[in-house]
Parts: sequence; structure tokens; C-alpha cells
Amino acid sequence: MCGTDRPLVIKSSTDSSVSVENGSNGNHQPEPIINLDHGDPTMYESYWKKLGEKCRLTIPVSQSLSYFANAKNLCWFLEPKLEQEIKILHNVVGNAIVEDHHVVVGTGSSQLIQAALYALSDSLNQPNPISVVSAAPYYSSYREIADFLRSGLFKWGGDAYKFDEDEPYIEMVTSPNNPNGVMREAVVNRAGGMVVHDLAYYWPQYTAITSPADHDIMLFTVSKCTGHAGSRIGWALVRDKDVAKKMVKFIEINTIGVSKEAQLRAASILEIVSASCQIGVEPYDLENFFEYSKNFMAERWKKLRDAVKKNELLSVTKFPRQYCNFTAGFTEAHPAFVWMKCKEGMDCEKVLREHKILTRGGKRFGSDQEHVRISMLSRDEEFDLFLQRLPNIIADEEV
Ligand SMILES: Cc1ncc(COP(=O)(O)O)c(C=O)c1O
Repeated sequence: MCGTDRPLVIKSSTDSSVSVENGSNGNHQPEPIINLDHGDPTMYESYWKKLGEKCRLTIPVSQSLSYFANAKNLCWFLEPKLEQEIKILHNVVGNAIVEDHHVVVGTGSSQLIQAALYALSDSLNQPNPISVVSAAPYYSSYREIADFLRSGLFKWGGDAYKFDEDEPYIEMVTSPNNPNGVMREAVVNRAGGMVVHDLAYYWPQYTAITSPADHDIMLFTVSKCTGHAGSRIGWALVRDKDVAKKMVKFIEINTIGVSKEAQLRAASILEIVSASCQIGVEPYDLENFFEYSKNFMAERWKKLRDAVKKNELLSVTKFPRQYCNFTAGFTEAHPAFVWMKCKEGMDCEKVLREHKILTRGGKRFGSDQEHVRISMLSRDEEFDLFLQRLPNIIADEEV
């Protein structure tokens, strides 16, 4: 536990997504630019600040000198403590089956996506790169990752709904989905297909936990679970031993393992989160992390819906209520992003940019310009400014 031998310091950063640039709000005050383009998860900072100095991690300079964490483990650079805390947390939350799966740690789940694409495509020995597809709107980084190095093993194959080649493929399934928050399953379902489940947002603050996921390759990350994107720790649960070995090989060639300091920090954070969920276990009288973060996201979504109602150009998805096994109650989804639809024919990203709100346009996700993805993960300061500005958004020609 985060205690005397391994206290944990969670340093808050003071940078912000709000920057002041030329512009006017009518009162001759500079109007700040609000950057809600990337999903930088700073929103749970106040929860972690409450822990303050009670929880700090000190790593003696004599520790973690070796490349190895456990030479006998398939994933030889995985800290045993992190593996243990990952398994405990999944069992506490009930969102994934860890039995019969190997844990592979990565520098963020971004590295694990690449490791999985390598592992799956390398084993096929195909003469041509195999297609990586995902159902639109898809997480925009998949396309970039698949094409970045112009690999001979795989290439971006586009929208999974449109994939009709009679050849092996890899489908990325993001559930809940980034950008639109809906729960997803594979859509291609053809012979020769391999599926990677990216479950970065399958945590109780974003969606109901309806059953433990049990897929061949499942990816998770502390970035979205606890909001510690700066630690750059993700993990994969991989059923097949050879695939897991190849993923480990990829990370060995890529970065010779994953920072031990970051792993130990992540292990302590996950331990706190698990302890906060178990009555009588928490040493610091901590509020249940998922209750806190779920209420936090629910409050943001309520405010957002109220603001959107005041503007007839904009609309957002309504999510069904579902029973959550973790909270033992019915809940709506409160996704990490808003997938906002603007009036027909409107270039939504452009219009919002004219109002000094930076978002990511629908085309980046394989969709259209009438949609934008807006991060719900910013600090209160920029989120509140965004809500204030939303009712005043007017279409291009009216600006
Ligand atoms: C669906 C999805 N997968 C993976 C990632 C990458 O996360 P990490 O910070 O662990 O690299 C993100 C980050 O936004 C994401 O949205």
C-alpha cells in the first residue's frame, strides 16, 4: 500500500488548456482560447490533491537499476507489484477477466496498440501488409499508428463497415468508443480476422460495467482509468502465449522495457483506487474513486446538456440507462468525449474555432464535418468557460 516505505507523491501540474490570445469578448477583454482537442485527462486532479502529502512514493537511487523486473516472467520487464495491482483492480471492478491472460505492460496503451499490430501481423507471414480497420467514427490515432512507419506488416484499411476484402485483417474495437461513447463489438466478423479490444474507457465513471470483458487481446491504460496520463502506463491482457511473447519482443526492440519508476507509481495508484472501493480497507478515509469520478462526469454531462439545449444548432447523443454490476444500480453513460452534431451543412470544427474553442473535426474519425469531438476531461476552468460560450455559438455565415 501507499505507506511509509513507498509513499506516493502526485504532483499537480499547473499548466492549463486555456490560453489568452488576441480577441475580444465585447468588453475589450482578451478572449481565451479553450483547447478541447486532445483528451488530456486532468479532471480528477482535485481527488488526488486531497491525498496531498499523505501519499508519496520514494524510490531509493539504488533501486530499479536493472532492465529486468522478473526475468522468469513472460513479460520480463513487468514489475510484479504492478501485475498484482492490475489483477486486483479488475477483480474489484469486474470489468475484465484476468485468469488465462498474460499481462503485458507498455509505455501507455499507445505502445501496446503498436505491439499488438506487430504481434498479430508478424505471425501471418503475408507477402503484403494486412489491413487494420475500425468502425467509423474510430479513434483517430489508429490510422496514424497503422501508417506512420509505412510498415511492410500492416497498413490502415479504413472504416470496418466498408471492409470487404477476402483476406486477413485486424479490427480495432474501442468500447466504449472514442469519440462517441457507445459500447461496441466487432463488425467485420470474417474468416481470417483478428480483433484487438481497446477498453481504455471501460471503467465505471464512463459507462455501466455490464459483464467482465473476456477477449483475446484487451488494452487498458491508467491515463483514462485514474487520470495519470503522465505516467505513460498501459497494460494488455493477452490470452495467447505466443502473441503475448511477440508483444513483449516488440517492446524489447522498441524501448527495452517500460520505466520501473512509472510502473511502481502506477502500482501504488491502482492500489489506492482498489482500496478506496473496499469498505474498511482504505487507510486514509478516501472516497470511493469510481463513485467520485462517476459523479464528477455525471455533473459535467448534465451541465453540458443544459448548455446545448440553449443552442438549436447543436445536439449530443442520448445514452440508454443500463444496470452496472459495480455500482449495483442503473446508470447512463458519461463518456470522456462529447460527439457533438451541428446543424446540417455546418463545418462544426471551423465554427467552434471561430469562437476560440479548439476541437477535433469529424473527418479525422472517418466521419463528417458536421461532427466534432470535444474533450470532457479538462480542468474545471476551461470546462466552465466552454459552457459559458456554448449557448452563443452561431453558424459560419452569422459570425
Ligand atoms: C481509445 C484509446 N486508446 C488508447 C489511447 C492511448 O492512451 P495512452 O495514454 O495509454 O497511450 C487513448 C488515448 O486517448 C484512447 O482514447
